[in-house]
Amino acid sequence: MAALWTQLADLPRPTLAELFARDEARVDTLTGRIELGEEAGGIRFDWSKTHLDAAHLDLFEKLAAAVDFNGQRKALFDGEKINVTEGRAAEHTAQRGVGRDSSVEEAMALHARMKSLVEAIHEGALGEVKYLIHIGIGGSALGPKLAIDALTRDGAKVDVHVVANIDGCAMEQAISRCDPATTLIAVASKTFTTTETMTNATSALNWLRENGVEDPYGRVVALTAYPEKAVEWGVDETRVLPFSESVGGRYSLWSSIGFPVALAIGWDEFVEFLEGAAAVDLHFRDTDGAANLPLRAAFADQLYTRLRGCQARACFAYDERMALLPFYLQQLEMESNGKSVKADGSPVDGPTAPITWGGVGTDAQHAVFQLLHQGTVITPIDFIASIAAGDDLDPAHHRILLMNCFAQGAALMAGKDATDKARAYAGDRPSATMLVDDLNPATLGALIAFHEHRTFANAALMQINPFDQFGVELGKEIAKSIEKGGARFDASTTALLEAAGLA
Ligand code: F6P
Repeated sequence: MAALWTQLADLPRPTLAELFARDEARVDTLTGRIELGEEAGGIRFDWSKTHLDAAHLDLFEKLAAAVDFNGQRKALFDGEKINVTEGRAAEHTAQRGVGRDSSVEEAMALHARMKSLVEAIHEGALGEVKYLIHIGIGGSALGPKLAIDALTRDGAKVDVHVVANIDGCAMEQAISRCDPATTLIAVASKTFTTTETMTNATSALNWLRENGVEDPYGRVVALTAYPEKAVEWGVDETRVLPFSESVGGRYSLWSSIGFPVALAIGWDEFVEFLEGAAAVDLHFRDTDGAANLPLRAAFADQLYTRLRGCQARACFAYDERMALLPFYLQQLEMESNGKSVKADGSPVDGPTAPITWGGVGTDAQHAVFQLLHQGTVITPIDFIASIAAGDDLDPAHHRILLMNCFAQGAALMAGKDATDKARAYAGDRPSATMLVDDLNPATLGALIAFHEHRTFANAALMQINPFDQFGVELGKEIAKSIEKGGARFDASTTALLEAAGLA
């Protein structure tokens, strides 16, 4: 392994311009497409503006063989306990119908239950429902928030407000926009113990009670891997939608955590969302070597993070509807792969996940692109856009949007000479472009699944476990010990607690 990394590090470093000049077929070689069916369209993945070349692909394929990438991938889809530190499988793909038979069957049965509840609510079984306050945090909030924002611009069957933060301002904002008589509450928590979520849920129930709802618990739907805890908390079993413990929090959008999405867009559209993701699952499961698009993306990620020392990666959605995608990808990448030990517990021998950030185009061009073009930090960039417009205004809007997206990739690569150095651009800065034919449930599902598998492929190459997140625990423990009182802290923390009247 070490020898392969050395060989990779020792490869010559032609510029992007040189790579394009020497290979006329470069765009075709490094562009792939995943088809999602006639209606849904497909996605084009263009990695030609990265520094991957035939020599890299060859060595990265050897590296993938050395870490038994195919074996690791098989273990993922076979439902083996690849989350070794927690003794669990990682079966999010089974939620989309791809995985171990028994897990797919279980997921389908739980989806059938969710479908019944979603359709019953649409048909008025719980009275008039205009609003849903969806309470969850991290993986229990970011996915629903993204999907609903992306897919309901033309209207939603139910108006969903996602509340994550313990800061009461978040809940206050949601309740100020809802009518208690026609509001349902979804409490979304894999563990059903998360402080923020349980505190917010109690406040939501109080709000309903104080505003004349006689049986607030009768307005609650629970989405959790621990249904017994939801029942114990007071939710009627008929309104508890469970999902398997083997679905990780940040991979749970496809499970009952997707309930608000299904409620907002409708069940058939939710199924299209799952099907789009499943098409990527099949591509990822059945395609070998660099033709496997998430694996190819991971090769480029490793090239930049490990071989060229890039400590960040950015994603810019040139589509207002996908403005929340960078936040979703941030948790996916940073919580999965921000690790310092390998799956076997030994220290890693190189950098792991880059800092993942991003924004929306064209806004970001007028705010942060200065650094990306002329700063000293090289940040590989992903551009994401849709060929079809999401708006009905003058087509000039969408044309200018797309032209700007492609112009940025071209400018980063080409650079520009100038005698006045302040006006010069070094160029040779990498980017990749994902272009969907149209943004719809299937293409959004596919884009998210692509990133899940890209994250997994990176973890496999680095031999780390992407499915645990122990790094989030220490801060939670300390917050609890502050609440309990009596614990001693460093002088700075003690002074802060005193200043805020918390000591
Ligand atoms: O603290 C991190 C985390 O455990 C995430 O991994 C998870 O998505 C989030 O908190 C919410 O957890 P839960 O769904 O159990 O409330």
